[in-house]
Amino acid sequence: MSRKAVGTVDKTEKICYNSFITCNMEVDPMSTILLAGGAGYIGSHTAVSLLDSGHDVIIADNFSNSCPEAVSRVEKITGKSVKLYELDIKDTDKLSAVFSENNVDAVIHFAGLKAVGESVEKPVVYYRNNIDTTLSLLECMSRYGVKNIIFSSSATVYGEENPVPYTEEMKRGTCTNPYGWTKVMMEQILEDAAKADPELSVVLLRYFNPIGAHESGMIGEDPQGIPNNLMPYVAQVAVGRREKLTIFGRDYETPDGTCRRDYIHVCDLADGHVKAIDYALDHKGTEVFNLGTGTPYSVTEIVETFQRVNGIEIPHVYGSRRAGDLPESYANADKALSILGWKTRRDLADMCRDTWNWQKNNPDGYRK
Ligand code: NAD
Ligand code: WQD
Repeated sequence: MSRKAVGTVDKTEKICYNSFITCNMEVDPMSTILLAGGAGYIGSHTAVSLLDSGHDVIIADNFSNSCPEAVSRVEKITGKSVKLYELDIKDTDKLSAVFSENNVDAVIHFAGLKAVGESVEKPVVYYRNNIDTTLSLLECMSRYGVKNIIFSSSATVYGEENPVPYTEEMKRGTCTNPYGWTKVMMEQILEDAAKADPELSVVLLRYFNPIGAHESGMIGEDPQGIPNNLMPYVAQVAVGRREKLTIFGRDYETPDGTCRRDYIHVCDLADGHVKAIDYALDHKGTEVFNLGTGTPYSVTEIVETFQRVNGIEIPHVYGSRRAGDLPESYANADKALSILGWKTRRDLADMCRDTWNWQKNNPDGYRK
């Protein structure tokens, strides 16, 4: 198999950031967590939170939307080493070798394609990748007796029918694109697997809108090509890579006419995974958690806050609505607080400041 060790960083090089979980290098490894797709945006931040909490981390990624440099930087931030496998999670034989070589306690499944527009153009590619990675992980877990899986789901599964704020017991709704349907289908597959195996623990984490970056400015979101999502687009306008932002629609039934979303700092989201791991290791069956702040902000508020906090003008114009956009999407975040003991700690100003800190230090992302 093609296996690539990124290398380790001397522990004395660790830069101690003010993690809200813990920043203790002396903790004994608690569990070994396999991050499928862990070199990506959310996976790399989660790796930092897990390592800072004393867990061991293994990453398996094919780098279809990321690069090994992100993992090297995780090691630099934490002063800990990460075992890195370059492989396609769909390749069950190669994935099996990861399980046979390591005592994996739990899997976090980030390995998916995530561009909504691209999923409309290439639905088969999306269904193949996102469903097959899930099946491949479940097969290997079954073969090697691994009983805990955390899944990167999305608020998109609430679909068009459900009213905001979304609560976990609402039925999954109708999605407007194949990407969303893959999340609905994968949730169903994982639930069915847990029904069939009473020893299995499945935690479905429904992320809202992750933005921001680690406060070191060393890791962050690095989209390929023209960003689809708002915050990376704003950041690229700020750094001069794009001329101006187009705000999609100002005639929605919202306070200022632009869409409102539940933006969550990626480091808060990452810390939520540590809590979810603790929960999964202690429970059986399926549990669903929203990971959001519960507070929506409009597109205009995002632009204004980014400008104010960073002292940078973001040239912007108002354009027509983007197909498929809902006026509002935000969480009821009570369940994660009451059961996981998790809530967000960083505000919108932190999100805007940390996004800019990453972008200005890495104007071309990881490709310098
Ligand atoms: P990302 O693209 O940065 O990370 C996904 C990682 O998975 C990448 O490193 C990619 O190379 C890898 N990958 C994809 N297919 C693979 C395969 N077949 N084999 C091995 N590796 C593979 O995306 P992200 O923003 O970090 O998102 C992580 C997960 O969270 C995804 O499943 C995404 O759908 C979900 N999610 C993301 C958001 C968001 O706004 N970022 C919101 C809700 C849910
Ligand atoms: C936010 C707001 C846009 C770009 C998507 C997926 C969702 C989830 C998160 C994975 C909207 C507006 C955007 C721009 C703009 N991903 N906007 N100009 O659409 O809420 O969610 O990412 O699961 O499934 O659909 O996020 O960042 O694309 O948009 O005005 O150039 O910003 O219209 O109102 P979205 P987003």
